[in-house]
Amino acid sequence: MTTPPVAPLDPRALRDAFGCFMTGVTVVTTKDASGRPLGYTANSFTSVSLDPPLLLVSIANSSANLDAFTKGAGLAVNILSEDQKDISTTFARRSEDRFANVYWRNGPIGSPILAGVSAWFDCTLDRAIPAGDHTLLIGRIGAFEATPNPGLGYYRGAMMTPATVAAELPAGPNVVLSAVLQAEGLVLMVDDGHGGLTVPMARVGREGIQAALGQLIEALGVTAGAGSVYAVYEDAKLGLQHIALRCAADLCKPRRGAFVDLSRASLSEVTDPALRQMLERLADEARMGNYGIYFGTHEAGRVERMAVERMAKDGK
Ligand SMILES: Cc1cc2nc3c(=O)[nH]c(=O)nc-3n(C[C@H](O)[C@H](O)[C@H](O)COP(=O)(O)O)c2cc1C
Repeated sequence: MTTPPVAPLDPRALRDAFGCFMTGVTVVTTKDASGRPLGYTANSFTSVSLDPPLLLVSIANSSANLDAFTKGAGLAVNILSEDQKDISTTFARRSEDRFANVYWRNGPIGSPILAGVSAWFDCTLDRAIPAGDHTLLIGRIGAFEATPNPGLGYYRGAMMTPATVAAELPAGPNVVLSAVLQAEGLVLMVDDGHGGLTVPMARVGREGIQAALGQLIEALGVTAGAGSVYAVYEDAKLGLQHIALRCAADLCKPRRGAFVDLSRASLSEVTDPALRQMLERLADEARMGNYGIYFGTHEAGRVERMAVERMAKDGK
């Protein structure tokens, strides 16, 4: 039996097809034999195994640093945060020293960890597997850290971020902002006025949601980032549009409320069922380090893994 002939694949179309789903953006780092830091931008990162803890990233066989990565002792995967688009560009371009203008330190296992990343994994090299024109680097994770900073996304050749979507959200007296302020695994909760707990909320005036968030954060006496959209839902009964923004905050003693853990006990004190459900999702997602966005009504809706904003074109 003969197999029907298959038309040769167009590599450009294949690259576009590979770009049809959204990935995170990472900088993979190592050190050469003389201790010089090396790194390149990669979106081929994926988790492989929890026990043992393994991850995978590919490196082009044409890379000048192939030997350093495939024969070296280890590598670190730095998951870039939403404001690190410049770093992704720096580490994807030819340069004498890609580390010249970035802050970095040695990770506990020894590979360079970049400052301000969303998460990092410092690994020993488990094995390097040749695969076509790339080599798969399997790293055994020896140390890692995940922060609440939203990650940078990559989709169809463009960098994306969930945070600035907020700038396009509706404003007005019927829009209610909920601020989900996260610090070191805790969330700022305030008294809901009925003996229960809630997150800080404010009506969004005509000045827009970022201004409302800024005022709310200032009134609470907290230092927090701009935030990313966490939930958008309508309360038809009260005619309100709710928008929850999730922000990384510094742990402190706020003027109102307190930072609490999202334990079953504290969640049971949240009287609004929609808010309780959102915070239960937050507790789960914080454990996984993978945040989605809820769209719907007060009663029902769907969670999208990431709402994105298209930024400048940035080809590989
Ligand atoms: C978003 C993005 C993702 C990339 N992913 C990978 C990847 O997974 N593996 C890879 O080898 N190169 C990847 N590249 C390309 C490298 O970053 C680029 O070719 C870099 O110049 C390689 O540097 P080197 O030759 O010094 O290793 C990616 C580039 C971009 C912009």
